[in-house]
Amino acid sequence: MTNRHLNPLPQPEGEEDAKRLVRVARLVLTLSLISISQFISCEATNYVPPVTAQMAAASSRRHDVDLAQLRQGRTLFVHRCIECHTLPVLWRYTPKDWTEIVNSMSHRASLKTAERDAVIAYILAVRATER
Ligand code: HEC
Repeated sequence: MTNRHLNPLPQPEGEEDAKRLVRVARLVLTLSLISISQFISCEATNYVPPVTAQMAAASSRRHDVDLAQLRQGRTLFVHRCIECHTLPVLWRYTPKDWTEIVNSMSHRASLKTAERDAVIAYILAVRATER
């Protein structure tokens, strides 16, 4: 063991190691903060949740919908509503606005009446089960 009081010169090697460790720790912290913030902003990004039984239950209380119709609506939404623009964010519009939007977009997306209703049912089901 060296006595620090008798040896006032800095110990370069140990100091460099400590600095490197701080840099690595800072990098790890920054990267984890970035990934956490991306996880939190899930509703701000374009998430199109898969159909669940809970969704079907929530929406069948008011409308006559089932799992198959909701699944069809989701499939149509992700495939057909992305042909001309990016997929619209589900949380950007109110449920009432969505009904009007899909009505007005359905001829552009060449949706049949039943297909249009499935897309609307899916969007309303997602909104009815959001936390
Ligand atoms: C053939 C092309 C085409 C298809 C397919 C299409 N859209 Fe659009 N959409 C447009 C155009 C063009 C606009 C911008 C002009 C406008 O609002 O009329 C638009 C705008 C929108 C907007 C923004 C409206 C606003 O007021 O900000 C939404 C939301 C939207 N579309 C949803 C959908 C949905 C849902 C579908 C699927 C059912 C769909 N679109 C399919 C062409 C399309």
